[in-house]
Amino acid sequence: EPRLRIGLAGYGVVGQALAARLKDDPRFEIASILVRQPQRTRAVPPPCSLTNDVGTFLDAGFDIFVDALSCDSTGASLCRTLLSRGIHVASASKRVVSSHLPLLAGAAASGGARLLYSAAVGGSAPILETVSRAAAQGRIEEVVCVVNGTVNFILDRLSRGAGADEAIALARAAGFAEEDCAADLSGADAAAKLRIIAHHAFDISPQALDVTTQSLDEEAIARIEASGERWVQVAHLRRLDGRIEAGVGLRPLSELPELGAPAEEWNRAVVTLADGSVYRCVGRGAGGPATAEAIAADLDEISRGRAGIAQDRTRLAS
Ligand code: HSE
Repeated sequence: EPRLRIGLAGYGVVGQALAARLKDDPRFEIASILVRQPQRTRAVPPPCSLTNDVGTFLDAGFDIFVDALSCDSTGASLCRTLLSRGIHVASASKRVVSSHLPLLAGAAASGGARLLYSAAVGGSAPILETVSRAAAQGRIEEVVCVVNGTVNFILDRLSRGAGADEAIALARAAGFAEEDCAADLSGADAAAKLRIIAHHAFDISPQALDVTTQSLDEEAIARIEASGERWVQVAHLRRLDGRIEAGVGLRPLSELPELGAPAEEWNRAVVTLADGSVYRCVGRGAGGPATAEAIAADLDEISRGRAGIAQDRTRLAS
């Protein structure tokens, strides 16, 4: 069977981890890579040449587009165009997905393509899968989750006596933080993920949700250090008086026993249904390998879809 060809946009922490992850997988071939700076040296040798020209990138031809870009406008327009042409998309970009989901879903439907974005939320913690499974079982009342690995890691280090600057530098060096880690610290990154989770939990448009955020700024860090406790950046969704309350806030872990012991960059989610049943998941939330694992799960899903189509064709022919 011919390999599925992948067009990969972005060859930073996530793109390189994906190339390493797929190196020995006979089902896929990275056929084209789009980057801003082709000349920059990278730790993982690229499996094909790098280009900063969109036309050259597209000319290679591919079956699946993987969005691992940090540039939202390029990612969004490529996703939209390619989906409408029938190219499947696996996106790791929570900002693109949370801002444009209805548009992209429409493009996917018109092109007959699949739009998957497991890597946009939770890294290797299957948060969207868990929320979707819970929603299929009954009415979701509440989702409580940790969805930003960088902040969780920083808070973990603070609770062990590290200084804030040192903790942030470590999170950056580990590849957890965004290119501009202000989005991690302000809660904006978690809020984007929460919008996508809300879509799966309550079938609402991500943009329709009002999300309050609380920043991990100097004042918050001072308060946390003075408390001597382990804190978490917790994102929650809750049904309240016929609407959905949504927020990203900083709380002492002792107030959230349902979260267990969230270590380092690990993410987790606890989903409660109206009948009291609880669904949970946990996994490494940020960084190259964890995110690449989530993209690989989407690619696996797409490749199995293809096998399904081929089988249907065989059945029709016989
Ligand atoms: N900066 C993000 C985080 C990366 O720390 O969770 C994964 O989305």
